[in-house]
Amino acid sequence: MYSTVREALFGDEDIYAGFPLQEYPLDRHTWGGTDPIFGRLIAEVRPSRIIEAGTWRGWSAITMARACREHNVDCREIVCVDTWLGAGTHLVKEPDGTVIPSPMRTALNRRFGYPRIYDQFLANVIHTGCHDLIVPFAAPTNMAGSVLRTIGLQAELIYLDADHSYESVATDLRSFWPLLAPGGVFMAHDYATGFPGCRLAIDEFSEAHGLTRYVERAWCLLVK
Ligand SMILES: C[S@@+](CC[C@H](N)C(=O)[O-])C[C@H]1O[C@@H](n2cnc3c(N)ncnc32)[C@H](O)[C@@H]1O
Repeated sequence: MYSTVREALFGDEDIYAGFPLQEYPLDRHTWGGTDPIFGRLIAEVRPSRIIEAGTWRGWSAITMARACREHNVDCREIVCVDTWLGAGTHLVKEPDGTVIPSPMRTALNRRFGYPRIYDQFLANVIHTGCHDLIVPFAAPTNMAGSVLRTIGLQAELIYLDADHSYESVATDLRSFWPLLAPGGVFMAHDYATGFPGCRLAIDEFSEAHGLTRYVERAWCLLVK
């Protein structure tokens, strides 16, 4: 039985050791990851563990780590699940040849054809001094969810901000909900910001489980 996900994934290894930080200046690109909603939730829920699915360059996790410090929350770890490969829409050109949101395409930082967002994520975490709390779990959400359920550790706060398609959100809800501790909060991004599939999956899941949806701007919160 493991006491942390960090221990289960990495044992004694310090995965941040030796990272060439000088090659990666702090980068601030995020999708809502610095919003005050995170601080407020952390202060209310006081989670001992947080699981995030969809991390990108780390800002939602960094904001949560900072909030834990600010509010003296005894959080042991923030587990960040991401492939660090971006979304399919970042990878290809539109049929008419236009490049899809170029900052995101550039952000993939492909080297020899393979995205290296993970390096910038690690750099941001180290630059902000959050590496004691943030634990990367580089895997697709369905794989990570299955491993986390096997490890058997729950979290009081789960943040879902990965693939926003109906199929993925529906699968991620089913996969990560069992990882939420009783009384915990499941927070999903982009409920009300132009992702109808994401919204439909959350509506169906919450209705099937008799859960109230607390909608706050782009976020939807479900309480277990
Ligand atoms: C919207 S971004 C996350 C933004 C981040 N929370 C922030 O505050 O900036 C979505 C992330 O989900 C990841 N992602 C997409 N589909 C995934 C999947 N099936 N499994 C794991 N990660 C996935 C992408 O690599 C991307 O980094």
